[in-house]
Amino acid sequence: MDFKKLVAERIAENIELPIEKVEELIEIPPKSDMGDFAFPCFQLSKTLRKAPVAIASELNEKINKEGFEKVENLGPYLNFFIDKEVFAKSTLEKIISEGDKYGNSNIGEGKNVAVEYSSPNIAKPFHVGHLFSTAIGNSLYKIMNSQGYNCVRLNHLGDWGTQFGKLISAYKKWVDEEALEKEPIKELLRIYVKFHDEAEKDPSLEDEGRMYFKRLEEGREEETKLWERFKELSLKEFNKVYKMLNVEFDSYNGESFYGDKMDAVVEEIQQKGLLTDSNGAKVVMLEEYNMPPCIIKKSDGATIYATRDLAAAMYRKKTYDFYKSIYVVGLEQSLHFKQVFTTLKLMGHEWAEDCKHIGFGLVRFSDKKLSTRKGEVIFLEDLLKESIDKTMEVIKEKNNDLENKEEVAKKVGIGAVIFTYLKNNRERDIVFSWDEMLSFDGETGPYVQYSYARAKSILRKLGDVSGEVDYSKLSSKEEFELIKTLEGFNNSIIYAIDKLEPSIITRYVIDVAKGFNKFYNQYSIINAEDEETKKARLKLVQSTCVVIKNALDLLGIEVVEEM
Ligand code: ARG
Repeated sequence: MDFKKLVAERIAENIELPIEKVEELIEIPPKSDMGDFAFPCFQLSKTLRKAPVAIASELNEKINKEGFEKVENLGPYLNFFIDKEVFAKSTLEKIISEGDKYGNSNIGEGKNVAVEYSSPNIAKPFHVGHLFSTAIGNSLYKIMNSQGYNCVRLNHLGDWGTQFGKLISAYKKWVDEEALEKEPIKELLRIYVKFHDEAEKDPSLEDEGRMYFKRLEEGREEETKLWERFKELSLKEFNKVYKMLNVEFDSYNGESFYGDKMDAVVEEIQQKGLLTDSNGAKVVMLEEYNMPPCIIKKSDGATIYATRDLAAAMYRKKTYDFYKSIYVVGLEQSLHFKQVFTTLKLMGHEWAEDCKHIGFGLVRFSDKKLSTRKGEVIFLEDLLKESIDKTMEVIKEKNNDLENKEEVAKKVGIGAVIFTYLKNNRERDIVFSWDEMLSFDGETGPYVQYSYARAKSILRKLGDVSGEVDYSKLSSKEEFELIKTLEGFNNSIIYAIDKLEPSIITRYVIDVAKGFNKFYNQYSIINAEDEETKKARLKLVQSTCVVIKNALDLLGIEVVEEM
């Protein structure tokens, strides 16, 4: 039951304001002992020519209070206290009957959304920064999908660019074939780093790299074959990580895919009179927008990152006819996306407004910014494995008799990492700490998963509830607060979409787990006062499980039945 609507209805019956307007004005009081909804009377004061305090008191006398425990006027506010029994019954019955679908809606129906995320670079490690993009993108996809949006999941692989010329050059000089087969990315990284070190001493290497990239762009056989091999080896590694994370894509069209689509873009830019010569390079001037020029072609004629992004944006519009096109990429690329979107706009593509760069902060481990250049990279696969191992130790300590320890450690270990990434506002940096991340009683993944497993164990012990349930038994403050939180799930999802911010769901599920633990620590379920109370509390436990599971799923985290 939508109590906010009901409040609006009851007020609108008595005043000269349309119900939508009334609903907009309704507030949630800062403290729960002030009621569940409040209507401020300031707005009415002008038309009614009365003091807001008087209006509140008069309204209270007239209003129909059915469905509410009480209605009180407090100063200029009219405070509504909802009928706890009606609220508990309607909320919990809805959750249980909808199950996995609870929280869903179809507000996005008929709207296509392109969600680009992860987008690692071929021949380079899938590092902890790429997980940031992967976790946010996967979660945004799930969140929007739950509201009926038609999402396509895009992995814009970094598989083109001058660095591949350098890599080919390095390959020819220094590769260790055996190592390449065994640990492809580590070997490719080794020779790439070596290339940079050597090029510092001998700058002619850079020219050689450029030459090889040129040959690659021309489609020469030898270079193309090598590039294909790098790509295949890399994808094999990336897929291992995606499998661990349960992440999938509908398209892996990377930068190279746009190779034959760029000429048309360059031509269009030229035709529209936007292309300017700048020291031999072709650029779009953006000084009017306080930005450096967007480089379209380098002086040697090679296309660059931005050109490929322009082609990709246009291809996506044509192919997916998107309502929104989302790019989950680190904040350090903010300027790049501003330049690309502004160029599209200058080209006359109004839909450039629907392209959104969803940025995120940096990931740090003991104070080091992670970069591939110097080779001090943390491979994501190693990070996930370490998290699983560490979780295993904790499980062995806490519950050594647990049957499927391995699987639990995997879900909890990986869940802990994802949770850490999605816990705070995405623009904030993350500083990793194992202790914090794996703790069972902070605001962590394991804490939420543990709460779920605890709730599940109660349900296993006490079995299913049958027959009528007396929801008036759920009248304590803790129970009512938890039910209110459970009821707000869809609201949180809508808010998360509005802000394109998975942390809203993470915070939400922390609230659910906290609310559940408060209730659970205060009231016994097994030894409830009477059978009726026990039944009602079991319904609350059951509903909590549904909501935690659905919310974690939106984050890309699996639940465990026992831990
Ligand atoms: N491959 C890039 C990187 O690892 C990210 C690609 C971002 N997406 C885009 N459309 N430019 O930094």
